[in-house]
Amino acid sequence: MRLSGKTAIVTGGASGFGKGIVEAFLREGAHVMIADINGPAAADLAQSAGDAAHAQTVDVSNRASVQEMADAAFSRFCHVDILVNNAGVTHLPTPLDQVSEDDFDRVVNVNMKSVYLTAQAFVPHMKHRGTGAILNVASTAGVSPRPNLNWYNASKGWMITATRTMAVELAPSGVRVNALNPVAGDTPLLKSFMGEDTPEMRAKFLSTIPIGRFSTPEDMGNAALYLCSDEASMVTGVCMEIDGGRCI
Ligand SMILES: NC(=O)c1ccc[n+]([C@@H]2O[C@H](COP(=O)([O-])OP(=O)(O)OC[C@H]3O[C@@H](n4cnc5c(N)ncnc54)[C@H](O)[C@@H]3O)[C@@H](O)[C@H]2O)c1
Repeated sequence: MRLSGKTAIVTGGASGFGKGIVEAFLREGAHVMIADINGPAAADLAQSAGDAAHAQTVDVSNRASVQEMADAAFSRFCHVDILVNNAGVTHLPTPLDQVSEDDFDRVVNVNMKSVYLTAQAFVPHMKHRGTGAILNVASTAGVSPRPNLNWYNASKGWMITATRTMAVELAPSGVRVNALNPVAGDTPLLKSFMGEDTPEMRAKFLSTIPIGRFSTPEDMGNAALYLCSDEASMVTGVCMEIDGGRCI
C-alpha cells in the first residue's frame, strides 16, 4: 500500500503503459482517475478495477477538455497528489520533410501542449498545497532517436527538457517532476513506430535492446510507482530510462 490515501490522474490510462501505471497505482492503494480520449475503454477498465477507479473522457490537447477533467478530479477527490502525463501519439515512420502538417500538429498538441495545459490546470493547486508529484512519459526517442520518427522524437526531447525545468522551478514549492524514458514496448502504439508489424521488423527493434525484450506496461507501472511515491521524496528532475540498456 505504497500509495495509500493518494489520488492520481493518469492520462492515456485506458491502454498500454498508462493502463500498467493505473493498475500499479490501484494495487498500492491510490484512488485513480483513468483519463483517456477513448471514453468506453476508460469506463471498461474502471468498472473492472473497482471502486477506487474512475473513468474520465478527455482530449489532453484541448484546454476546455483538460479543465473539465480537472474540475471532475477536484470534485471527486478534493485534492490531486499525482499527475501522470502519459497520453501520446506518433506519426508513422516518414522522412522528416514529408510528414503532413496535420500529423505534425497532432504530435505537438497531444505530446507537448498537453503538458502545458495540465500544468495550468494542476500546478497552482499543487503549489498551494505545497506537495505533488508529476510524471511525464517521454521516451528513449528523446535521448537516442531513430530516423524517420523525427517530429515524434523531438516532441519527447521537448518533454525531457520540460520535465527538468519544471522540476527546478517547482522544487521550492514541494512539487516533484520526473519522467520515464521507455524503450519500445509491446503496446498498440508499437505498430505505428515500426510502420509494419512483421517478425523481421520486431527482430530489428529487439536487436537494439541489450536485455533482449520489449518493455511492458508492468515495467512502467513499477517505475511510476517509485517515482510518484514518497519513497522518491528526494528525487526530482530525473528522466529515468526503462530501456533494458538501449541508451548505453
Ligand atoms: N509503446 C512504445 O514503444 C513507447 C515507447 C516509448 C514511449 N512511449 C510513450 O508512452 C506513452 C503511452 O504509449 P502506449 O505505447 O501505451 O500507447 P497506447 O496507444 O497503447 O496508449 C495511449 C493511450 O493514450 C490515449 N490518447 C491518445 N490521444 C489522446 C488524447 N488526445 N487525449 C487523451 N488520451 C489520448 C489513447 O486512447 C490510448 O488509450 C506515450 O506517450 C508514448 O509516446 C511508448
